[in-house]
Amino acid sequence: MKFFIDTANLDEIKSAAAMGVLDGVTTNPSLAAREKRPYRELLKEICEIVPGPVSAEVFATDHDGMLKEAEELAAIADNIVVKIPTILEGLKAIRSLADKGISTNATLVFSPAQALLVARAGAAFVSPFVGRLDDISSDGMDLIGRILTIYRNYDFETEVLVASSRHPMHLVESAMMGADIITMPYDVITKLIKHPLTDIGLAKFLADAEKVPKG
Ligand code: G3P
Repeated sequence: MKFFIDTANLDEIKSAAAMGVLDGVTTNPSLAAREKRPYRELLKEICEIVPGPVSAEVFATDHDGMLKEAEELAAIADNIVVKIPTILEGLKAIRSLADKGISTNATLVFSPAQALLVARAGAAFVSPFVGRLDDISSDGMDLIGRILTIYRNYDFETEVLVASSRHPMHLVESAMMGADIITMPYDVITKLIKHPLTDIGLAKFLADAEKVPKG
């Protein structure tokens, strides 16, 4: 299973890359807005840090506008993946971009039907937003299970990228289901390593280490 970080913050990306488990980056307009820097300049720097896929989202909502922006974003670096919203115009754009050999990530996916459509259109990645479904008393991980079943039934090559993850159990459940990728905010990545028994055990070992005769 691959780990992506969901941020446009360079310090967080560098820190996660140093942990040795980072395979890619996802960004979106909301994450980019927090950085208060030109989006494309930021994307170029991210692509220099992380060799894996870096998702860059279009701001346009019509087919031709998305295509133009996608071509500009794809020209930034070889590892750019263009994020396209899962709307009717987006579906057409995913198909056009697949025909041009530009890799896409279908974002804002909330139903199995949307996931099936974007796979048929040729998206390289599908991003179901699990946390936002949980937020409205729906079941985000149930959606992941349904998409995986559909993709396996028809051997779709589109990779399932679990997005809008909020806590370590989203990772554990995604891994148990066999999702291809999860993208996580920095604070979720840092929580994965933590366990109170590890801290208690280490404190005891360190205290006992003081009692071990030197030499
Ligand atoms: O990758 C999509 C993600 O950024 C959305 O996360 O927390 O805004 O629902 P969130």
